[in-house]
Amino acid sequence: MNTIDTLTRLADRQAFREGLHAALQRSARAGTQMALVLINLDGFQSINDQHGQDGGDTLLREIAQRLQNLARASELVARLGADEFGIVCEQVAAPAMLSALAERIQTALRAPVVIGGEQVPVTASIGIVCGGDADVADELLRYATATVQAARSAGGDSWQFFNPQVHQRALQRMDLAHGLQLALERDEMSPRFQPIVEAGSGHIVGAELLLRWFPQQGEISPAEFIPIAEASGAVIAIGAWVFRQACLAERDWHQRWNDAAPYVSVNVSVRQLDDPGLADSFEAILRDTGADPRRLLLEITESMLMDDIDAKLRVLDRLSGMGLRIAMDDFGTGYSSLSQLARLPVDVLKIDRSFIVDIANSGESRAVVEVVIGLGRALGMKLVAEGVETADQQLELCGYGCDLIQGYYFYKPLTAAQLVKAMEEQAASGEQVPANELYFLLYVSEAVAPLSGAKLEQLLTRTRVNNANAGITGCLLYEDGHFMQILEGERGRVQETFERIRVSALHTGVRVVMQGPARRRMFTHWSMLLVDSTAARRHGPDFKDWRPDPMRFDEIARDARVCYAFITACVPDVKH
Ligand SMILES: Cc1cc2nc3c(=O)[nH]c(=O)nc-3n(C[C@H](O)[C@H](O)[C@H](O)COP(=O)(O)O)c2cc1C
Repeated sequence: MNTIDTLTRLADRQAFREGLHAALQRSARAGTQMALVLINLDGFQSINDQHGQDGGDTLLREIAQRLQNLARASELVARLGADEFGIVCEQVAAPAMLSALAERIQTALRAPVVIGGEQVPVTASIGIVCGGDADVADELLRYATATVQAARSAGGDSWQFFNPQVHQRALQRMDLAHGLQLALERDEMSPRFQPIVEAGSGHIVGAELLLRWFPQQGEISPAEFIPIAEASGAVIAIGAWVFRQACLAERDWHQRWNDAAPYVSVNVSVRQLDDPGLADSFEAILRDTGADPRRLLLEITESMLMDDIDAKLRVLDRLSGMGLRIAMDDFGTGYSSLSQLARLPVDVLKIDRSFIVDIANSGESRAVVEVVIGLGRALGMKLVAEGVETADQQLELCGYGCDLIQGYYFYKPLTAAQLVKAMEEQAASGEQVPANELYFLLYVSEAVAPLSGAKLEQLLTRTRVNNANAGITGCLLYEDGHFMQILEGERGRVQETFERIRVSALHTGVRVVMQGPARRRMFTHWSMLLVDSTAARRHGPDFKDWRPDPMRFDEIARDARVCYAFITACVPDVKH
């Protein structure tokens, strides 16, 4: 029997198994520790594709040589398969020896291999199993293989020790992957529809189809099964099924409500986009169901689009040519190049929920949302905010001119029957959820006694905390014992805060100059900005010389429009 791998001159798989078996027995007899180190090259297939089989062979021979040089003379080094190598280590004094070996291997492999005059970098995923984890050679090998896979899933170019828990999870994943293959046949998948509403009125205009899986053992969350479906390829069949459900829903709703029917939004994964049969499959489903493609929105996550954009662009152009509309999902979390974004046939941007969570309290989040909405507008897209859970969030989004909203504040995901009911209730009530109003209030007052810079800062520290909690932004001006302040936020909150301010013993003669609904916030990045112009002059034109007797705030406030223009001119143009 051949026990030498002819390409690399290392031991082959058969010789390795025998050596492993013998080492296990020796270590059991001597009471010493042994270990198996398994090394799998990352991306070998693509090296082979690029450099041909000869190039691949050169690489394998070079790697074999490096591993042989690294190992002690007594250690067995073998090539187990295409790009898989193994080392049996005996008399291991401490695990640190093994981690040191793994790191030496990584360093040795990283030095590029020269193939056809080109420097090709190589990395590997390494799994280490100690003798005690199993006492049978084949089992040890299986554990090592699972550990290499875990290192690979963690991104490659890394090593891991065998971990029984990780192994258990891997087994569960295999179970799930198997279950997923059968899920459609067994009728275990079911669609839910989360309504998407107009930001101001709360009126349902669309719904995102969300997939649920109910195998015998209960429900498994999409966060768990979608990545497995992607990895196993099951997502192709499941994706086609989901698209069919979306088409059926569209047709059903159109029959019920004609043009008032909600559009249907459906997720498409990167694996589906890479599938050359995708557009044909969708075309056939559209034909089959008679659904209107213009009422179907395909959601594609931002991060997956930017990888190999030209290929994706061809697919998206074809889908969009069929009349389907395209949305970019989770926008803001990836790193889209803006010029590429403009090239894509995207109709809708979905602002990621992570920016919505804090929008009522964080200037940073507001700034991001404001920029994204501005960007979408400039590119002629519609904006949908995801994950909206509170009235404050809705208020902010309306203030920035966001078109549509999706989230628990309006609706959780519904069954098809519940969605029909929600639509009927909406039609019956005829009334729409009133928009939460953005409000502003501008007042002037006089300090009871002049305030030092430190005193003013002290006052501001407290108010900034209060205002951040209440979702209030604005600006406070102080000049020669006079105050002018603008507050912006939800109506009730603004009025409540103003009541507190009014009774403060620090000032008197509090006079409201104007108040009312605001179209948008003027001060987005500050919970309260202070401009003390007593000593330091503001940036911009200095009117001091022109008017030796400058107007006080209460004089400016004689004309509310001038007063408003004066204070809103303080909007900071530099962010901190
Ligand atoms: C000119 C001025 C501006 C104020 N601005 C705010 C504000 O924006 N938000 C707030 O919650 N309170 C504001 N306050 C109120 C005080 O921070 C706070 O209600 C008050 O100081 C309560 O404490 P006191 O009884 O020690 O004055 C302001 C008070 C003054 C005098």
